[in-house]
Amino acid sequence: MLHFKTIIEPFRIKSVEAVKFTRREDRERALVEAGYNVFRLHAEDVLIDLLTDSGTGAMSAAQWGAIMQGDESYAGSRSFYRFRDVVQDLTGYRHIIPTHQGRAAERILFHSVLEEGEVVPNNNHFDTTRANVEVEDAEARDLVIPEGRVPSQIHPFKGNIDLAALERTLDRDGARVPLVMVTVTNNTGGGQPVSLENLRGVRKLCDRYKKPFFLDACRFAENAYFIKIREEGQGGRTPKEIAQEMFSLADGCTMSAKKDGLANIGGFLALNDDTWAERCRNLLILTEGFPTYGGLAGYDLEAVARGLEEVVEEPYLRYRIRSIEYLHERLVAADVPVIRPAGGHAVYIDARALLPHIPPLSYPGIALVNALYVEAGIRGVEIGTVMFGRQPDGTEKAPAMDLVRLAIPRRVYTQSHIDYVAEAVIGVAGMKDRLRGYRITKAPAMLRHFTALFEPLPA
Ligand code: F0G
Repeated sequence: MLHFKTIIEPFRIKSVEAVKFTRREDRERALVEAGYNVFRLHAEDVLIDLLTDSGTGAMSAAQWGAIMQGDESYAGSRSFYRFRDVVQDLTGYRHIIPTHQGRAAERILFHSVLEEGEVVPNNNHFDTTRANVEVEDAEARDLVIPEGRVPSQIHPFKGNIDLAALERTLDRDGARVPLVMVTVTNNTGGGQPVSLENLRGVRKLCDRYKKPFFLDACRFAENAYFIKIREEGQGGRTPKEIAQEMFSLADGCTMSAKKDGLANIGGFLALNDDTWAERCRNLLILTEGFPTYGGLAGYDLEAVARGLEEVVEEPYLRYRIRSIEYLHERLVAADVPVIRPAGGHAVYIDARALLPHIPPLSYPGIALVNALYVEAGIRGVEIGTVMFGRQPDGTEKAPAMDLVRLAIPRRVYTQSHIDYVAEAVIGVAGMKDRLRGYRITKAPAMLRHFTALFEPLPA
């Protein structure tokens, strides 16, 4: 019997979309017109788009087929019940509230349960999660383990929350903590997983201090697969069984179905508490829609329901995690500084380490993102001082890391696309001394990375 080492894409391609090849001078011009902010580019001018893995995946034929089955009834749609049953089977939560995407679930939850001056602990809040806490004049407190803040340090569960730090927060500020959150996988910290053991530890503390525990579950399936391959005693279980245990340790979750829902749009808030659920549903009706569609079309609910079933399939997850690791290995072999080990949905380049001549407040991440676009037509995203450096009081402070994330859309790019990306990153890393920093010329007070305008600093 042959034993294969190659892990192939567990699908064949039924429909294709052409990518546009541009010249370097076209890209230079496009970037100037975009105010040196790749969020402002026309996507058509991007060859390989690694801006995000959110909503950018390819749906399966079964999902497209399910879309044709969508029931567009305003209330009580058949598609809602199908969606609810799939989410309930996975999470076990009592109340399933659809939302148009993850941040809507966050806004509805936080606006319903957070008071001014309160504190939400998390391993790391992602950008919209942090913003939705801060907009309530509350504090988003990041308590990831110390290893999670050091890019080069290898740890199997670098996304774990620091249980001692969480205990201190609950001890000192417990009266001001309405809920504890853990993000699986930890996007801000490199797409790093959280172990079952860690989640059990959070559960224990939440029981002791009588606090509800919520998962930010956007990438729950990738997290479950990491548990399967890395955590002792978990290898024999299916990813779905592990995911079900993860959810069972918490009291609710916010979810963006644009990631591990394998859908282009959608999300949900799911929880056990009846009082909170009622409050959230009332707010949902005000801004998202009736509780059986929550801002989605019936066909979106069908696509998410089917996506949640496909995402826990083992051949898919094996390929998914391996394809990220493959790009990671190539960059490590070429001495490009990256967060180690590989994350679940992206490779994170340590721009601060690669570009020591550009201080954090001159945005090394932006310098690298822009060079990757101009030289190779690849769009990544800065996760660093621009995204997280602005303080609520308006001052600027460098966060723990300046990263460039290359997020891999699900089921979209093939191995040769990824080979091209590796070649491009290694090539740009070779010209690092020529890269310059940037300054911001215009930015809004909140979530500035999306719309800020930049200017290159003089050589
Ligand atoms: N939580 C995490 C951990 C996320 O990564 C995201 C989105 C959200 C919540 C919000 O979900 O986009 O559906 O409103 N992250 C995307 C990204 C945008 O590029 O990482 P959403």
